[in-house]
Amino acid sequence: MTPTVLTTPARATPGSVSGFANDVRHYLTQHPRQLPSRYLYDDLGSALFEAICRLPWYPLTRAELRLLEAHAREVLDAGITTVIELGSGSGDKLSALIAAAGSRRGRLELHLVDVSSSALTEAGQALERLENVRVVTHRATYEIGLGEFGLARSVGGRRLALFLGSNIGNFDPPGRDAFLASVRSAIDRGDALLLGVDLRKPVRDLLLAYDDPLGVTAAFNRNLLTRINRELRGDFELDGFTHRALWSEDSSRIEMHLRSNRSQSISVREAGLDFVMGEGEMIWTESSYKYDPPEIVSMLKRSGFSVRAQWIDAADRFALTLAEAV
Ligand code: TRP
Repeated sequence: MTPTVLTTPARATPGSVSGFANDVRHYLTQHPRQLPSRYLYDDLGSALFEAICRLPWYPLTRAELRLLEAHAREVLDAGITTVIELGSGSGDKLSALIAAAGSRRGRLELHLVDVSSSALTEAGQALERLENVRVVTHRATYEIGLGEFGLARSVGGRRLALFLGSNIGNFDPPGRDAFLASVRSAIDRGDALLLGVDLRKPVRDLLLAYDDPLGVTAAFNRNLLTRINRELRGDFELDGFTHRALWSEDSSRIEMHLRSNRSQSISVREAGLDFVMGEGEMIWTESSYKYDPPEIVSMLKRSGFSVRAQWIDAADRFALTLAEAV
């Protein structure tokens, strides 16, 4: 399979049916067939993802939380007035970071960017309960959220961008570099970026993290078909598709697919789509690239950042890298 760029068309409005329908029509008719992974996060998808984060086979979230708590004071130093989290999900990590930074901090303006309205509402409510904070939510893709953030700057002081959960791994290399460049241009020289990245580890562990024995990850992936059926009047038969996680050594990535178990015809009315999938044919829904620590340093350098600190959880092989915009 040749690597394919999963790009997000700039016109697509998150949550709008037409953006979703256009994306489904465009990506499902590519070779190989694909679906953009941000559509995994509807209300149920976000809840299933929260469940994944609690699975014993998915240690990323716990490893990252430990690192955040251990280094909170260095990350959230006294000069920071504004934080933007791209893909804030439940907001638990940001809450933990702020709590662990203690009382030395001043007033904080928190910008949460997420495509899931249910996750955003819950995270916003939880964070608003903290003292001395103001919360601004952006129900948007990363790109649109970053743009709104650039316009909404209201206070002086240094800014901190958080991109956690190894979400950077969900971009292919050109998309990753374009994303880092867009973060760099949304902040100023001297502002900070904290990047949480999952590291290369034994393939057995990676496969378990993305294909767990309880089937939660499979449910998360297959829920995308349920969403298409519901929102776009599709007729995917759920029992016709199996979740597949594959490791590509050449690309250093886990790939998530939905494999058609039989030859079947599918229609998605709102997207004006009718097509046939053969037995064994796959829909590529997500990639999760894994990195080594020096690769993280060099990708940041290339994008206009200089690394201030890199903390590694040796047991679970996860890295938190703090960089400054230069
Ligand atoms: N950023 C997460 C990761 O790459 C997203 C994720 C975890 C995911 N498990 C998944 C995406 C399963 C799709 C399917 O680890």
